[in-house]
Amino acid sequence: MTTPRKKTPREASLERGTRALYERPRYYDHAYRAHKADVAFYSALAAKRGGSVLELGAGTGRITLALARAGVEVVGVDQSRAMLERAAERIERLPAAARTRVQMRAGDMRTIRLRRRFDLVIAPFNLFMHLFSRSDIEQALATVRAHLAPSGRFVMDVMMPDLGTLRRDPERVYRCRPIFDPTDGKRYAYGETFDYDARSQVQTVRMMFQRLDRPELDHTTPLCLRFYFPEELAALLHYNGFTIEHSFGDFDRSPLTEHSEHQVLIARLRNTQSRAGRQRK
Ligand SMILES: C[S@@+](CC[C@H](N)C(=O)[O-])C[C@H]1O[C@@H](n2cnc3c(N)ncnc32)[C@H](O)[C@@H]1O
Repeated sequence: MTTPRKKTPREASLERGTRALYERPRYYDHAYRAHKADVAFYSALAAKRGGSVLELGAGTGRITLALARAGVEVVGVDQSRAMLERAAERIERLPAAARTRVQMRAGDMRTIRLRRRFDLVIAPFNLFMHLFSRSDIEQALATVRAHLAPSGRFVMDVMMPDLGTLRRDPERVYRCRPIFDPTDGKRYAYGETFDYDARSQVQTVRMMFQRLDRPELDHTTPLCLRFYFPEELAALLHYNGFTIEHSFGDFDRSPLTEHSEHQVLIARLRNTQSRAGRQRK
């Protein structure tokens, strides 16, 4: 039996920055409750294309449940037990017909194999920003290839890197309005710091919470996000067997420009077989 290799301090801190926020799913749902544009985008796309959907990094089902409600058969995969438990609670409250259309599975997007193919594989809300090495990205794209029907589409979104904001002083605390955390029903003073490492392209956000009624009670949640420059993302998709069909700069399908906040990509499998066939002729 082989013992798993001990994680380096860098690997451990990236892992912490990929998991910590998702240990408080009620707070997650509350914090992102106003994010609706991406839900509408993915729901409209799935309804228009028809067929089944695999959502990688499905979390508490923010998008998964909307798809099921819209009549789409959807399987969501996530590695966080806490997020999946919250998703299960929410699925219980769906109308019976929608409930039969949704399944959640525990797994890592780099390794999971469900032994079936889907008409649409989606990786919403910056999921790929939780992949930190080329090998992680290649593994995740191999998962997409293993689950995508030949005529299917892979759809993902990540934030657009903006050098101005990435270069923020890591010592400066950006204070925001107090927030409510439904996990404990308490109100917190809230601030964030942003530390971007230009070599690894990873930004570490430190979300700082301090109880308003008892300021001595505070905690910090790290969030690590790897940024992708547009041409880099296009190359990664290309060399992993995909062709980008549409690149949008937002969920309203506006074009991707240097001022866009998001990169929303619709890709399909590159038809390597027919190309090889053409070359042989
Ligand atoms: C930003 S949340 C998005 C959740 C949901 N799709 C949404 O839009 O609200 C990212 C989710 O991806 C999950 N995740 C991160 N890395 C993962 C991995 N390697 N495999 C599976 N899930 C992962 C996290 O647990 C979290 O639930």
